[in-house]
Amino acid sequence: MSDISKKISEASQVLIKGGVVIFPTETVYGIGANAFQRDAVEKIYRIKGRPSDNPLIIHLADIQQIQNYASAEEHLDRLQDLMPGPVTAIFPKSEAGKEIDTANLQSIAVRIPASKTALALLQECRLPIGAPSVNLSGKPSLTRIEDIELEFANKVDCILPEFYKNDNIGIESTVISFLEEKPVIVRPGFYDRTFLQKYWPEIIYSDFSSRSHAPISPGQKYRHYAPECDVVITNVLPDIISESEASLGFSIPAGKGYKIFISNNREYMQKLYAFLVDCDKLKLKKAYLQKPLEDGFSAGILDRIQKASQR
Ligand code: TXA
Ligand code: MG
Repeated sequence: MSDISKKISEASQVLIKGGVVIFPTETVYGIGANAFQRDAVEKIYRIKGRPSDNPLIIHLADIQQIQNYASAEEHLDRLQDLMPGPVTAIFPKSEAGKEIDTANLQSIAVRIPASKTALALLQECRLPIGAPSVNLSGKPSLTRIEDIELEFANKVDCILPEFYKNDNIGIESTVISFLEEKPVIVRPGFYDRTFLQKYWPEIIYSDFSSRSHAPISPGQKYRHYAPECDVVITNVLPDIISESEASLGFSIPAGKGYKIFISNNREYMQKLYAFLVDCDKLKLKKAYLQKPLEDGFSAGILDRIQKASQR
């Protein structure tokens, strides 16, 4: 057995025994447990400080497993094109799905991650794995293994790094709800509406930002992705920043502050969370984020940076 298979098999044993495992996906790292074991899942809520009404995405190894836990029949063909991949689908539960608790909802969010490490783990344990992003609730998701080790090494039973080359998307999956007449994008991500219209021409966006009306997805009502400092979204970055400020964007300001340069939206997604985490580490006072370029990735980025800037 190779070293990698050995580590994956150890992680799988931890999951089977009710432990908590951090594992890579192509979007962000996940902190997972056997979705059938309530006490295992509760550990994740405790570690993250996650509100108990916010359900976890159930990570699965293949389309057959989706068929097993969700009533997804008419959409399976189309999903097969998109999964494994950075997309999550919400369906009514099947009979078998009712055994899985999803914060008392009747629905289940399912996702097949594309990371080879994640897939190997899911194939090995053959369990539905409930896994949110790795972060303390409300804070930016963690995308660097060294940040995860620092914050979570003594809180979880196992941390798996990415063993293989990964697409490394950097922001969480696009979440689509199939509970209503028309499919609804409840969280944009790598895939935006225009892309998904090729599969579901009638697909619509929900109001991601609204915290006032009853959200389709409980996660919509909570604060997210926010560092301690003020986050300012601008069309044009300031010319000069001070030592206590940071900027991320397509041009670099002068001054002594912390600066991350990006040349396209794909890179924006990949670097955004690490930038926000660094703002906390460096105890900065203000972070400027330049608006993304307008393309298929802008909806996902705008959603994250708008939430990061909310107080
Ligand atoms: O890329 C991702 O999706 C990452 C990786 C680890 O897979 N996971 C992730 O999980 O972002 P989390 O927990 O940070 O975000 C899941 C979102 C939350 O907003 C939650 O409310 C929503 O999905 N959700 C989960 N199950 C749901 C359900 N049955 N109905 C409505 N919304 C649901
Ligand atoms: Mg999250």
